[in-house]
Amino acid sequence: MLEVSDLRKGFGSGRRRLEVLKGINMSVEKGELVSLMGPSGCGKSTLLNIIGGLLEADSGNISLGSFDYGTKPPSRVVDVRRNGVGWIFQDFHLVDRLNALDNVAFSLELSGIPSQEAEQRAKDALDRVGLGDRMDFIPDQLSGGQQQRVAVARAISGSRPLILADEPTGNLDVKSGQEVIKLFQDLCAKDGLSVLMVTHDPLLASMADRMLLLKDGLTAASDIRSAWGIEEE
Ligand SMILES: Nc1ncnc2c1ncn2[C@@H]1O[C@H](COP(=O)(O)OP(=O)(O)O)[C@@H](O)[C@H]1O
Ligand SMILES: [Mg+2]
Repeated sequence: MLEVSDLRKGFGSGRRRLEVLKGINMSVEKGELVSLMGPSGCGKSTLLNIIGGLLEADSGNISLGSFDYGTKPPSRVVDVRRNGVGWIFQDFHLVDRLNALDNVAFSLELSGIPSQEAEQRAKDALDRVGLGDRMDFIPDQLSGGQQQRVAVARAISGSRPLILADEPTGNLDVKSGQEVIKLFQDLCAKDGLSVLMVTHDPLLASMADRMLLLKDGLTAASDIRSAWGIEEE
């Protein structure tokens, strides 16, 4: 589903040049939940941004379904952003003044879906994440966990095959965080979605099908024991 090959990315030039990704090889299968851990500043967000078509790599390749990119500039991967990946962020990124339904419908409308269809798809997505009875609540009237589930509904409403989640539980208490990961598990198992999530929490990371560790510019398979070691750094 997702195949990342020999991906390299650095920032700056000359003596201030910083090589962040030094030849990343990784994949995510359809229906798979993969967690990505690693010390702060190691390049996790950089990697997600490149996979999400928000940033170009210096070299290497990404294939996501029928999309082939990696070194293409963001202006040339509009399709990836529109139809390839859905995003979930630490701080939810909801519109304060819009209720849950309109938060989800709005983003569908922005991608060109007529408003009636957008509303129906938004309802279906909110039902799917268990918020069918909260559709007319604005973010302030929802708990952090519920707000993140609205963001999950928004990410899945566009029928994109891959969800990228950058520290999705960073602003949540332990229980809400676990519920979000359980929702990911369910979406992967039942809906065939793939999720790549960054987390600092070894327990949450271990709820994934597979754990990856990004360190010194490279990814490696990880397990729960070494994950606790990462946490201590
Ligand atoms: N646009 C940029 N310009 C210069 N340096 C950057 C830029 N984006 C990220 N970096 C640097 O790249 C490294 C990796 O950043 P990031 O991917 O955000 O790490 P992580 O998400 O793992 O904490 C950091 O040292 C960061 O300062
Ligand atoms: Mg980051």
